[in-house]
Amino acid sequence: MSAKVAKKKTPARRQTATKPISKKKKKSAKGESYASLVAQLRSLLKGEYDFIANAANFSSLVFNSLPDVNWAGFYLLQDQELVLGPFQGKPACVRIPFGKGVCGFAAKQCETVIVPDVSEFPGHIACDPASKSEIVIPLFDGKRVLGVLDLDSASLGRFDDQDAEGLNELVTVLVAHEEGLDE
Ligand code: SME
Repeated sequence: MSAKVAKKKTPARRQTATKPISKKKKKSAKGESYASLVAQLRSLLKGEYDFIANAANFSSLVFNSLPDVNWAGFYLLQDQELVLGPFQGKPACVRIPFGKGVCGFAAKQCETVIVPDVSEFPGHIACDPASKSEIVIPLFDGKRVLGVLDLDSASLGRFDDQDAEGLNELVTVLVAHEEGLDE
């Protein structure tokens, strides 16, 4: 299996340079762009607590801001099934059994999963044959998995540890907001 699994509680870290160039930590373009997305998400969420509305705006923000993404959205856990939630992109599979596909695997393991080549992931569920790589982030409220965020790309190897870190931060902001933990 070519899935790359990032650890649950310690999100992927940026590599540390062996020789620091300057005392100020230099952020990559990707890191800067996720920082801006986090700020935009916070502003979209402000004062609104309808989860569907917030998840819909979340998927639109991510889909329209990140390059080379052909699907971005949520699957929400209902009775041992992941059910399609708010998303952007082409119509997708509606129900995924818990544990099945990349989404079900990430939900069951409660771990971020990066798949550089979906054709090498056993049991991958192909909603759009154009999708070549994928990243799935579980939504975890500290006690249970609520669902997953799924992003697809038509390019192989589109997602890396920085995407995992940035998307985990975005999802954490969304879940904390719904729990009222960001007030
Ligand atoms: N590929 C996913 C199914 C969902 S779609 O990509 C939108 C999976 O294997 O779980």
